[in-house]
Amino acid sequence: MDQKSIKEAAAFLNKNLTEKPEIGLILGSGLGVLADEIDNPVSFLYKQIPHFPESTVSGHKGQLVAGILEGRQVIAMQGRFHYYEGYTMQQVTFPVRVMKELGIDSLVVTNAAGGINKSFHAGDLMLIDDHINNMGNNPLIGPNQEEMGDRFPDMSAAYDSVYLAHADQCAEKIGLTVRHGVYVANTGPAYETPAEIRMLRTFGGDAVGMSTVPEVIAAAHSGLRVLGISCISNMAAGILDQPLTHNEVIETTDKVKENFLRFVKEIIRTLPIKERG
Ligand code: HPA
Repeated sequence: MDQKSIKEAAAFLNKNLTEKPEIGLILGSGLGVLADEIDNPVSFLYKQIPHFPESTVSGHKGQLVAGILEGRQVIAMQGRFHYYEGYTMQQVTFPVRVMKELGIDSLVVTNAAGGINKSFHAGDLMLIDDHINNMGNNPLIGPNQEEMGDRFPDMSAAYDSVYLAHADQCAEKIGLTVRHGVYVANTGPAYETPAEIRMLRTFGGDAVGMSTVPEVIAAAHSGLRVLGISCISNMAAGILDQPLTHNEVIETTDKVKENFLRFVKEIIRTLPIKERG
């Protein structure tokens, strides 16, 4: 996506915003409810925003909501764009570029994911320590615009260590047990085979999903600080003796909604913006 499109989308949003957002939120499958908690909301359907793609998957609303959450200026994506929907990597990461252009410093990314780590259970929340890009593509392929970021961005601290420690403290404060692990991104849309899950476990993966990694690569390229949270919506293929369905994903995320909301709100309320990790 060229810079002109990014600037035009940001200019359109800016016209309708009175405050600069400081924290961006990407809300995954079934987790969009968080955006309903935003005070003084200003909402933009994706289709209203210049150059924005439209989201197609059920469980996703397809709008940007800006306003105040726990006293912080936020802008939230209620529903994201997935590579498996047929969008290019540049389209998938376009909203991250636009949020950066609007002035955010930090990005909280969430998703529903299958548990690969056998000690996990459906309904667990996992803080993403690191990721494995297994998508066979990268949003930075193509000419690099130096104003946007380095040609070869460092990914060794893509998930901010101060934010991870902060999230751990928040979990403890509200009495929530959280997991930590490595998120593997596959393209989907087919779920994995049991053999693929065994392979991903050997590779060091703890959870698997079909999103997040492109956005986090774009965020790292843009110099944004990232916190990632996976809702373990199911155990990955072959671990339990049952088939995998999108309904299960939606049902589990619905059950953990309360914990997820409490957790993310506590994180946002006190998220350190200045002190870098
Ligand atoms: N695999 C891939 N993506 C997912 C899964 C899974 O098991 N659960 C939720 N998203």
